[in-house]
Amino acid sequence: MKHRPILLPLFGGESIANAIHEAFDYSLGDITLHQFPDGETMVRIHSCVQDQDVIVIANLDHPNNKLLPLLFTAETARDLGAKKIGLVAPYLPYMRQDKQFHGGEGISSVYFARLVSTYFDGLVTIDPHLHRWHDLNDIYTIPAKALHATDTIAAWIKTHVPDAILMGPDAESSQWVSEIAHKIDAPFLILDKERQGDHSVKVSTPNIALYQNHSPVLVDDIISTGVTMMETVSHLKALEMKPPVCIGIHALFSDDAYENLQKTGAKIITCNTILHASNGIDLKGNLVHAVGAIFEA
Ligand code: R5P
Repeated sequence: MKHRPILLPLFGGESIANAIHEAFDYSLGDITLHQFPDGETMVRIHSCVQDQDVIVIANLDHPNNKLLPLLFTAETARDLGAKKIGLVAPYLPYMRQDKQFHGGEGISSVYFARLVSTYFDGLVTIDPHLHRWHDLNDIYTIPAKALHATDTIAAWIKTHVPDAILMGPDAESSQWVSEIAHKIDAPFLILDKERQGDHSVKVSTPNIALYQNHSPVLVDDIISTGVTMMETVSHLKALEMKPPVCIGIHALFSDDAYENLQKTGAKIITCNTILHASNGIDLKGNLVHAVGAIFEA
């Protein structure tokens, strides 16, 4: 008999859990996080997980307040006799601190990987920020699978922006931008970005004027403060290019970043790895497929 894992959604993971449940008829588990008056959390899993595999589906943007409840969920499931405990995290946080940039700093991507690898038996995520780390398994010691949004983004651009010139704001974005461009046979440019601080970047835009008749589509993995997108959009406006579309995989949007980017007049579309008003590209199917490949094989 095939395993029927139990799905435990946390922090808004319900719609993905429902999609997996509908595809494979895995049970939707019942879990509550009780917050005590002092802010401490008690995890309670109401479903029986004894001798069952468990899949925790958790949106992990803004992770600091979520981390302890997440790890306690894994511990609780294990105490209740769960066999294997997997984590589906559409957005994987802490990947950008991937080296010691200044003396005295820690390498958070390694520490976060160590924590997750200690408490979970496997990880599925979408387009983690792999820059200096080339593979999740460089830092995760459990089977860790990175899915890619490129096919789905390419299909969206092909339908909605047939005259696209794709642009990546920096060398790191080249992995997504070049692949999407090849899939839809569109031209692409990789720009130069120099980050001067959390809220300040300089982006240079050589050769853009060659593509005056195209619609610029900026693609980046993360939109956080939005300054990378805003700086690029300002150059495009100065060159009187057609109105741009900004596509981000992970809609982090700190503070008023979304409103500020909207004010530039750019159209903003993100994938639903983080729930946000700008979500327009649905990656639930990618996660359902990946879970099926693991448990239905
Ligand atoms: C960094 O290298 C990432 O790929 C993004 O370019 C970056 O996180 C965007 O951040 P922000 O929106 O704050 O400019």
